[in-house]
Amino acid sequence: MRIVKYPHPTLRYKSKPLLRVDSELKKMIHQMLDLMYANEGIGLAANQVDLPYRVIVMNIKSDQNAKEEEHAFINPVIVQRKGRMEEKEEGCLSLPEISAPVKRPQKIVLNAYNLAGQEVTWELEGLHARVVQHECDHLDGILFIDRLSPANLLAVKQALHDMEAAFSGERQRGIIPDDQLIAARLSELETART
Ligand code: NI
Repeated sequence: MRIVKYPHPTLRYKSKPLLRVDSELKKMIHQMLDLMYANEGIGLAANQVDLPYRVIVMNIKSDQNAKEEEHAFINPVIVQRKGRMEEKEEGCLSLPEISAPVKRPQKIVLNAYNLAGQEVTWELEGLHARVVQHECDHLDGILFIDRLSPANLLAVKQALHDMEAAFSGERQRGIIPDDQLIAARLSELETART
């Protein structure tokens, strides 16, 4: 398992809900958590590790000893967005070296399944609400750069071009498969679990 970087096509994939929580899924989620901690992230979505599933993990302390902050949300659905809009700096492990302010509602109500397969409703605010909104966007193929003001987007444009150039370089060197291969793999994984 590895983190894919912008503009990898899996980051634009809209995932379907999972049908079951089993030991294989739990293993994937633990690998996602390990990767998130190894990269000092506070959240990670399944398509960032090239998986077409609706799963996100979060720990706003980015500390694996802070278990009270460790969450895995399976089939997360934001059922309500409330509170005022708040603009805060965001980054993303799939867009390293870029950060920019993003406006989001300050509070949400989240419905999701946990690792025990139980449905849970969470009321989240502040950074928790922001991370969950950012990660749920990933599951719909949306990146935080899609939510920037024109001026803020302009400010990161060059960095995005550089990432696009690096990506096509990796493709030419055969490190990243072509779009058809990626799509075929995602479709196979999707059929197995959604
Ligand atoms: Ni992200």
